[in-house]
Amino acid sequence: MSGYVELGRVVENEQIGSDVWCMVVYAPKQAKEAKVGQFCDVRVAMGTMPLLRRPISYAGFNAQEGTITLLYRVVGKGTELMTQLSVDDTIDCLGPLGNGFTIPKRVLLVGGGVGIAPMVCASNHLPEGTKATVLLGFRNKEEAFWADLFKQDKVDVHITTDDGSLGTKGFPTAVLPSLCANTKFDSILVCGPTPMMKGVAQVAHELGLSCQVSLENRMGCGTGGCLGCAVDGQDGRRYKVCMDGPVFDSEEVGF
Ligand SMILES: Cc1cc2nc3c(=O)[nH]c(=O)nc-3n(C[C@H](O)[C@H](O)[C@H](O)COP(=O)(O)OP(=O)(O)OC[C@H]3O[C@@H](n4cnc5c(N)ncnc54)[C@H](O)[C@@H]3O)c2cc1C
Ligand code: FES
Repeated sequence: MSGYVELGRVVENEQIGSDVWCMVVYAPKQAKEAKVGQFCDVRVAMGTMPLLRRPISYAGFNAQEGTITLLYRVVGKGTELMTQLSVDDTIDCLGPLGNGFTIPKRVLLVGGGVGIAPMVCASNHLPEGTKATVLLGFRNKEEAFWADLFKQDKVDVHITTDDGSLGTKGFPTAVLPSLCANTKFDSILVCGPTPMMKGVAQVAHELGLSCQVSLENRMGCGTGGCLGCAVDGQDGRRYKVCMDGPVFDSEEVGF
């Protein structure tokens, strides 16, 4: 899907963690049309620095209120500029882009770091009759604010931390086999650092479970024109993460 430009109005732009911000944007067309797992490409400056848009997943959309929610980690110039936007400022959003998740009846949502953003969206937009379990991986307990984003949803949340300061010590893969032994899932949805996604995909493969990965490759155009985001498929084809993804079956692509 190639999306369209919508000039949104910033409704809220708050810091929610040491380097993580939550921006709510009034963008009624995208709020109505976005799907879980899709993203928008944000123009962070009206000039040429930086020139390229920055892809950010929808962490939420509310068709009634006409808003989309973006959760972003400040890592460089573009995301730093996003923090400077205030209520009522205009933000240029190109979207909805890409293909999202397919959510089955019994689903496990696994998120690490800022890859938790699309899982917040999935948890908020579960199809009728779907039962979800959430598994989150943080560096330490200071990142526990991510878990609060799931509080209003009817989901069980499991936490791992790299240093053991909250939940189980280790990565999400440490608890994945026991979680899957105790609950039957039709599919695992995962987004986060590449080693974590690889680990989750490996466990899913060993258990014979379907696994959908959301790739966050660096992007140029975001709309299929530059090949900057290409990944190799297991079938020998090259896939564009911006158009064919960002969500893929984990058996479909190398990542
Ligand atoms: C489909 C998709 C969805 C995304 N969703 C989110 C989201 O919901 N929230 C969020 O915070 N970020 C998300 N990202 C990542 C986000 O696009 C980048 O962090 C952002 O573009 C960085 O811009 P910058 O100008 O601040 O940093 P830059 O100055 O461009 O880069 C700063 C540092 O971050 C690294 N970096 C930049 N982009 C990426 C990337 N895609 N993957 C790994 N390292 C990167 C660079 O190598 C560099 O070291 C997503 C990326 C994709 C492709
Ligand atoms: S970012 Fe240009 S083709 Fe995907």
